[in-house]
Amino acid sequence: MSKFLIEGGRSLNGDVEVMGAKNAGMKIIAATILAKGKYQIANVPQIADIFTLLEILKYLKAKVKFENHLLVIDTDNLINRPLPEKLTGQLRGSVVLIGALLGRFGEVKIAQPGGCQIGARPIDTHLDAFRQLGAEIKEDKDFYYLQWNKQNQGDKIIVLPEMSVTATENMILASVLRNGKTEIHIAAAEPEIEDLAIFLRSMDAKINGAGTNKIKIQGVEKLKTTDYQIIPDRIEAGTLIIAGIITKGNVIVKKIIPEHLELFFLKIKSMGANFEIVYSYPDKKYADIKVSPTEKLNPIIKLDIRPYPGFPTDLQAPMAVLMTQADGKSEIFETMFENRLGYIRELQKMGAKASVKNKHLAYITGPTPLFGKKITTLDLRAGATLILAALIAKGETEINKVEIIDRGYEKIEQRLKKLGAKIKRI
Ligand code: EPU
Repeated sequence: MSKFLIEGGRSLNGDVEVMGAKNAGMKIIAATILAKGKYQIANVPQIADIFTLLEILKYLKAKVKFENHLLVIDTDNLINRPLPEKLTGQLRGSVVLIGALLGRFGEVKIAQPGGCQIGARPIDTHLDAFRQLGAEIKEDKDFYYLQWNKQNQGDKIIVLPEMSVTATENMILASVLRNGKTEIHIAAAEPEIEDLAIFLRSMDAKINGAGTNKIKIQGVEKLKTTDYQIIPDRIEAGTLIIAGIITKGNVIVKKIIPEHLELFFLKIKSMGANFEIVYSYPDKKYADIKVSPTEKLNPIIKLDIRPYPGFPTDLQAPMAVLMTQADGKSEIFETMFENRLGYIRELQKMGAKASVKNKHLAYITGPTPLFGKKITTLDLRAGATLILAALIAKGETEINKVEIIDRGYEKIEQRLKKLGAKIKRI
């Protein structure tokens, strides 16, 4: 396992690119299972979670070439075979392979998907939805086995038990080739789901309403391959913007889609952060975010974490570092995961005044100086958070288990170094 050593107290300055969205890329790669042939997918982040998923696709005999963020994937000779735990156990996102394989082959055998331990994350919601869609499900100690049953044909309304992101994606993937119409109700509306739907539409799928809580799909007989470009990662963008604000630097976070971060912008504005959204691209959906130094930050009375368009759970922990520097008491109300406040213990070690009331509620009072310590990454987003804290801490911080951070942030230390951070990997 590697470590980051970070010498805090330097302001960051300069331009930084945002990579393609991890949680869109993974689903889009899974969707290539649905049609035979060659795809070119641009803006794919070179991160561990994507590499792991590509290993699974190679195991299914897909041909993969991945250079400079361009992924060429050929699914001509793809086969359906059981996916064991050693392949799926690393990656929660592998759960969407169920929808893609069921959609294409009518059956799938897969071990429990793994990933960050950030909550009780069984796949009940997925299984319930697959049953509604017409899948027969068997389970033993190693595998789930799903197969279409005779009720698979015809028009269906699927009511998701909760607005789950990957369950919504699974329903889309399993429905686009189904014989009949599918309506997904209580669908999650995250931009990554919409990106998957746009990708599938470019393969000739008939999908309406992705990005809202009701999605309508008319099944088609066949899909074709396509070329595509993945949206920028809104979570990475938010994290880099926070890095600029806390270090009181002049940072330009390049080419993001501001609409995906509306509530984030509203919240950092209410904190008094200085930033500007500059629409400098011919395509007006993209903009650069120009961060300039802020002297005093206000607290957030309540940061309420909800499914999109609510405040994203994946930016909850990074916001906590801003709160340690705000003048007063902030509240974090994490409604989504049960185990996503663990990083606060590490921030406390660094000097943050914080208290965790229960698994969903925490308070942070600032401003407090932070001090470099030996700390450990608990999950992907907590890892990014500890880097943020280390950037403003006095002295040296040692962050352990940084492979967890590599799952979702491409060469983060090199990019921060370019902005002036003193960070090295050992
Ligand atoms: N939940 C609620 N209420 C809801 C919807 C969900 O409480 O209305 C709870 C669920 O019970 C669960 C949690 O929220 O505890 C998240 O549920 P969901 O099923 O939506 O999560 P997921 O599909 O497993 C994806 C992302 C996560 C991201 C969540 C929420 C992928 C591969 N993963 O997970 O990403 O946090 O949606 O936006 O797309 C990450 O990238 O670090 C990450 C964990």
